[in-house]
Amino acid sequence: MTVETSIIAGRTSKWDGILDVCQMLSGVGLILFMWAHMILVASVLIGPGVMNAIAEFFESTGMAQVGGPLIFLLFLFHFLLAARKLPFRFEGMKIIFSHAKMMSHKDTWLWIVQAVTAMIILIMGSIHMWVVLTDLPITAAKSAARIQGGFWTGFYLVLLPMVEMHVGVGLYRIAVKWGVIKADGRAGLHRGENILTLVFICIGLATLIRFWFINALA
Ligand code: HEM
Repeated sequence: MTVETSIIAGRTSKWDGILDVCQMLSGVGLILFMWAHMILVASVLIGPGVMNAIAEFFESTGMAQVGGPLIFLLFLFHFLLAARKLPFRFEGMKIIFSHAKMMSHKDTWLWIVQAVTAMIILIMGSIHMWVVLTDLPITAAKSAARIQGGFWTGFYLVLLPMVEMHVGVGLYRIAVKWGVIKADGRAGLHRGENILTLVFICIGLATLIRFWFINALA
């Protein structure tokens, strides 16, 4: 290797490391946002008035108007960083899939779950954010009207498990990759992550059912 190529190689790996840290930090930010988001939307389970009061607070402080687009940017930033490692060509996808089958390695399958859910979330998450943020203020009645329309129920029944799987697997992979958990703790972590995913899916489903029974004209 010449001096130049070794310098370039050194720079590349240094930048790769920095971009990996950025990907991890943006992922952690989005995981925290998704937990907060699910709990805030689920406040409708206590009562539509509680959800309205929380939404009003976020709008009166400008957090919805400014924070919403910022979350959207963080979402795109996270995807762009992750896209460095995603196979966009069919050939690449086939190779990864056959390797996963050949090795039958659980963490390789989890990576595939992560990549597939990422593509779906990118499209559906963008549509969802656009629809909600261009129709402020957020109110329980408006959300209920959307969900009772039918289309958005189907939409959320797909998006909800995709997001929760992506968040759960993402958390597990961050803990393993960044050495938060050692090899002997992986099985326990994986179980915990599955339970967390199920709990959030159940909260989301309960929230959707609650929206069905709200008088959207009230
Ligand atoms: C700042 C950005 C966001 C705002 C203001 C927001 C707001 C809302 C609101 C008001 C609802 C209730 C349903 C409705 O009104 O249609 C909802 C539901 C939902 N949102 Fe978001 N959202 C945001 C970002 C996201 C992101 C980034 C995702 C994931 C990619 C997401 C996933 C979902 C899901 C899965 C539901 C259904 C929830 C359930 O089953 O309880 N949202 N969101």
